[in-house]
Amino acid sequence: MGKQQYAISEYPDVDDVYARIKILTKQPLRPIRRDVMAQYLEYFEQKCARSRALTDEAKQYIPGGVQHNLAFNYPFPIAIERADGAYLWDVDGNRYTDFLQAGGPIVLGSNYAPVREKVMEVINSCGPVTGLFHEYELKLAKLINQYMPAVEMFRMLGSGTEAVMAAARAARTYTKKKKIIKVGGAYHGWSDQMVYGLHIPGTSRMEATGIPRGATKHTQEFFPNDLSALRRKLVTNRLRGGTAAVIVEPVGPESGTRPVPFEFNQKVRELCDEFGALLVFDEVVTGFRLGMGGAQGYFGVKPDLTIFGKCVTGGYPMAGGVGGRRDVIMTFAAGIGGTGERAYIGGTLSANPLSCVAGYYALKEMERTNAPVIAGRAGDRLTKGLQAIIEKYSLPFVAYNQGSICHLETSGVMLLDLKNPLKTLKEIKSRKHMLEEMGAAYLSQGLITLAGSRMYTSMADTDEVIDEALEKFEVVLSGVEGV
Ligand SMILES: Cc1ncc(COP(=O)(O)O)c(C=O)c1O
Repeated sequence: MGKQQYAISEYPDVDDVYARIKILTKQPLRPIRRDVMAQYLEYFEQKCARSRALTDEAKQYIPGGVQHNLAFNYPFPIAIERADGAYLWDVDGNRYTDFLQAGGPIVLGSNYAPVREKVMEVINSCGPVTGLFHEYELKLAKLINQYMPAVEMFRMLGSGTEAVMAAARAARTYTKKKKIIKVGGAYHGWSDQMVYGLHIPGTSRMEATGIPRGATKHTQEFFPNDLSALRRKLVTNRLRGGTAAVIVEPVGPESGTRPVPFEFNQKVRELCDEFGALLVFDEVVTGFRLGMGGAQGYFGVKPDLTIFGKCVTGGYPMAGGVGGRRDVIMTFAAGIGGTGERAYIGGTLSANPLSCVAGYYALKEMERTNAPVIAGRAGDRLTKGLQAIIEKYSLPFVAYNQGSICHLETSGVMLLDLKNPLKTLKEIKSRKHMLEEMGAAYLSQGLITLAGSRMYTSMADTDEVIDEALEKFEVVLSGVEGV
């Protein structure tokens, strides 16, 4: 048997996951017992004084005291000073096992020395930016093409958000059509047209504060996995300007929080072909985390355009890019004096030498070390351990993973939907708060998660790291009401 290429060793039983989630969201909440939660909050008071002082002061200058949407702010944010491998240390000297991994870009482990050294060489020789061409731009684009042959050409940008904006523009330029269809609940960054149907399917403009109606006029969402709904939209759009693109997170919205059946992406591909729409894979999370061929390699589906972010610079700044079919990407041709009709994109710091060298060596190292597969094994071990804890204490919680993307649903807030709007509106606040409490509880035990419900694993997560983390998860999960 050849070497395992992808992080997913076994595709999750999607029907079983949804059946369990249905049971979870029907049940009353099972938060942490009040007496236990009080002890966890005490940790912050006793052990995190400097974090508190710094972030309290930051609140005078920075809204809410934190800049990152994934940073905890309950009971208050933690300030991090050091990162190495599987661990983070805060400014009070407390150590945490890091399952946030900065939101996904780090598969090699934090602050991985071989990449850092290459970045330092380039900084020393030409600084972080010149605005002119650097050889590492070519090296990175060629490497991506080698791993993902569907990415015939690549244009680097500043973030995943920018790359999605660019993809929409290229798709409209190329197809001369208007509508962009996304899956309800999926995240494609925060551009005006994409803050639509965020987090909870069916919510359309619920989070579109500050965004004029016109900006989302041509954005549409369909309910996760509902291919008939997608077809209906494609049909009706034919008379309303046509569909320029269908954009999906290939493992399912919010990094697989609602996992897709294995054949979903292929069926979307077929629908796009039938209706002349481009298929855009948002591989900001899956790109290289699932394996060097990304989700497109794993599922064996060729998108027209691919969105990159996060891993494309191995956790270094300016992580974004869009790549794909030569004829579509050529609409971006840059440089002074470009000819013909072109879709205008840019960015002073985009494709700077620092980002390109970091991406190039991070990807090379990921391939050399087989990091995506090793991280995936860590994800399997973590998930199996969590499932055993859930069973041991007869909890209604749901744990599953797609390789190194691990989900632990305890409050189910992300799994509510507007098919049942009254229930959702009634429960959203308490379910959100429970998630905040779970995140704070894990943190007090030395575990950093993504919003209390997701964990990204990396190559640095050895069996010992995972087993130690599981002991801590057990402390928290055995302290919920009714155990
Ligand atoms: C699937 C997906 N698309 C797009 C983005 C936006 O990327 P960025 O934060 O680099 O703008 C994210 C960010 O988390 C993401 O997860």
